[in-house]
Amino acid sequence: MKKIKVNKSLELAGTIRVDGSKNAILPILAATLLSEEECIIHDIPKLKDVEIMCQLLKVLGADIEEIESNTLKITVKNITTCEAPYELISKMRASFLVMGPLLARCGNSKIYMPGGCAIGTRPIDLHLKGFKALGTDIKSENGYVNAKTDKLIGNYIYLDFPSVGATENLIMAAVLAEGETIIENAAEEPEIVDLANFINSMGGNIIGAGTKTIRIKGVKKLHKTEHTVIPDRIEAGTYMVVAAATGGDLLIENIVSSHLQPIIAKLNETGAHIEEYEDKIRVVSNGIIKPVDIKTLPYPGFPTDMQAQFMALLSIADGTSIIHETIFENRFMHANELMRMGVNVKIEGSSAVLTGKSELTGAKVKATDLRAGAALIIAGLIAEGETEITDVYHIERGYADIIGKLQNVGAKIRLEE
Ligand code: EPU
Repeated sequence: MKKIKVNKSLELAGTIRVDGSKNAILPILAATLLSEEECIIHDIPKLKDVEIMCQLLKVLGADIEEIESNTLKITVKNITTCEAPYELISKMRASFLVMGPLLARCGNSKIYMPGGCAIGTRPIDLHLKGFKALGTDIKSENGYVNAKTDKLIGNYIYLDFPSVGATENLIMAAVLAEGETIIENAAEEPEIVDLANFINSMGGNIIGAGTKTIRIKGVKKLHKTEHTVIPDRIEAGTYMVVAAATGGDLLIENIVSSHLQPIIAKLNETGAHIEEYEDKIRVVSNGIIKPVDIKTLPYPGFPTDMQAQFMALLSIADGTSIIHETIFENRFMHANELMRMGVNVKIEGSSAVLTGKSELTGAKVKATDLRAGAALIIAGLIAEGETEITDVYHIERGYADIIGKLQNVGAKIRLEE
């Protein structure tokens, strides 16, 4: 079984380049199903989740060619099946994002119902409500969601919660529908904007992405395109926290600083010094961390995907910090693992109370999800002795070459196969 071993490594210094965004590329890959023509996409991160989405696209009929490192040419001349099998959906929830494009392109889809996961139950009711509003009949049979439509017709869709996945899936369905669709209370994440830019570059007509109201005027067909994925703001944020926690000095390249504002604001409050440049950011810290309170919220609020990494950081703060998780009902699995390393944290409902000044020591711990894994690496970098992290596959789903990138800035971290 693969393990990551981490030893205390303070004052990490150097430069780290951030890869393309995982949560932007996954819906963009799904959106390639919308056109018969070729899509060339640059800066695709080498991640397990990207591999799974590409496997699914191939099952559905895509021809995928790596024309350069991190650049794929994807052509879906014909959709050969509209069924997304259990084996792939159960490996990655985001595979459900092919439902919108399949309905748009073929008028039907049969997709295994994604289940809950380590961070919560994660229902898909908002996706389905939206598809129904666009004129789809939906039935659940033998664990599959069976959807059929004669023709998608634009409609007004109000999302009870600004779900990232539902907003993406519905944009992709609406783009080839007849007439106009308005998605109200839409998610505003930068990944939604990147998806809309990608589809618009293929001839789509999406206005308002990045705001609460998105208007999509249906078009008949989408043509070929070339697109570069936005940088991963969560990967960038994770390395920013590494710099703060280790009392380091890291220059993080390939970022969009406007996407990082909630993370920058909170890191500033912890006392880290931050210099913003056009596409780089420098984080310098003396390792003395002030306590801060955090509440996760939909963008532009503080991202839930940075909550675990901040828990590792705030464990050594000089005083009490409270983290309130509002997006997922069960996203504190990392707290148990961090406790094994000596973190003083108490979970009370949807809040975590960290009393601070924890003296961390290395331990055998398990990555319970992707961001939990990142938090354990951060804790391992500041703990005395050796930390051994298992269930490494979670980390490989979302951080390209995290070990190499951290070794380059002085971290004592290695992978054992
Ligand atoms: N929700 C519903 N009904 C729905 C859809 C969502 O109740 O139909 C609830 C969820 O259960 C959850 C909340 O709404 O409590 C937010 O879910 P959302 O749909 O916004 O999340 P997602 O699209 O499933 C994406 C990211 C997650 C990230 C969340 C929130 C991708 C592939 N995944 O998930 O990323 O945490 O948005 O920002 O984009 C990660 O990268 O580690 C990760 C988990």
